[in-house]
Amino acid sequence: MTLRGGGARRGDSLSNLGLIEDGAVLVRDGVIAAAGTRAEVEKLSEARGAEKIDLGGRVALPGFVDSHTHLVHAASRAEEYDLRIAGASYEEIARKGGGILNSVKKLRAATAESLKKRAAAALKRFASGGTTTVEAKSGYGLDVASELKILRLHKELAAEQPLEIVSTFLGAHVVPAEYRGKTGGAERYIQLIEQNLLPEIGESRLAEFCDVFCDRGAFSVVQSKRVLQAGRQWGLAPRLHAEQLSRTGAARLAILMRAASCDHLEQVNKGDIEALGKSETVATLLPGCDFHLGLKQYAPARALIEAGAIVSLATDYNPGTSPTLSMPMILSLACSQLRMTPAEAITAATVNAAYSLRREKSIGSLEVGKQADIAVFEVAEYREIPYYFGVNHCWMTVKRGRVIHAAEQV
Ligand code: NIG
Ligand code: FE
Repeated sequence: MTLRGGGARRGDSLSNLGLIEDGAVLVRDGVIAAAGTRAEVEKLSEARGAEKIDLGGRVALPGFVDSHTHLVHAASRAEEYDLRIAGASYEEIARKGGGILNSVKKLRAATAESLKKRAAAALKRFASGGTTTVEAKSGYGLDVASELKILRLHKELAAEQPLEIVSTFLGAHVVPAEYRGKTGGAERYIQLIEQNLLPEIGESRLAEFCDVFCDRGAFSVVQSKRVLQAGRQWGLAPRLHAEQLSRTGAARLAILMRAASCDHLEQVNKGDIEALGKSETVATLLPGCDFHLGLKQYAPARALIEAGAIVSLATDYNPGTSPTLSMPMILSLACSQLRMTPAEAITAATVNAAYSLRREKSIGSLEVGKQADIAVFEVAEYREIPYYFGVNHCWMTVKRGRVIHAAEQV
């Protein structure tokens, strides 16, 4: 599956997989030098001297681009899982100091070394499911030292292991405990972001994107706009957590600000869907959250696709709402719960996700000039990737031409 054809995909073009039967890819210095049928590629003089990896008729596709994760955190919140199953809602737990603030407490107490170890182990598992690029958000530090600790880890991890990491500053995740219950507390925390965090992040190039959790219990549309504008002044492009728990108008803000993406979208209304259909802002859907929280209202994927939105999919890997590292599992949820077709889901998780990270020139499809980022699945045909849910059929993962994961029997 080449996914060739360039650019962000909307509507019917989400179904164009660029399938080649008996295909081959020629890689030079980590970059795709040729892609076509095996006969075509084998004819090339450069192919004759190349090292050959026989995929044995398995299905190869571009490595998954996971465009929304909260990679660095100290521990799970399995204790809250029990509470939620017993009937407490995500927001009730958060109001009582659990939720994101629970993870903030844990992260502040953790050493950079232990955080790094946990994140590195997670990255290996991402790779084992066919993921080759991971966006990673800060947001469990919420003070200067702890946010910078996370963002520096993004940089170190990017240098020390094979997966590509795209760093996002999410200082405006929630208002930290020490600013709560004080007059103007939220405003003072935003000032800390503007005056103490963003200058350092901008100058040291610790993040490419700035994100805000714009929702009930987090930041308002007005506050979110202020943070995103401040981020933009330091060269950070906006993306947004939008319309997850309640409809706030966050998706409209994302569109207005030409954000790279707005994510979640369970609560969007008709007008929002139409507006997203006409916009360049990607609609990133995160069905792992609704699945894990046991919520029935998934994002309206079909209406978004019909309106023409650039729909994408991601894990939202995080300890509160979506503790999964598996893009294949997200594809299964996208098909069975969002009623996306396997072809649409795969396009959303590759080309469109790459577009949402502003990396459409280098990743997301198997085309000449792009990085050789390839996932290989032990399945008879591509539909079986989402069809077999909860079991990992990824046989091999290649990043920039190097094998970074191979199933045990390989
Ligand atoms: O994407 N919604 C905000 N942030 C995360 C949840 C974070 C958490 O609960 O730890 C999300 O769902
Ligand atoms: Fe998130």
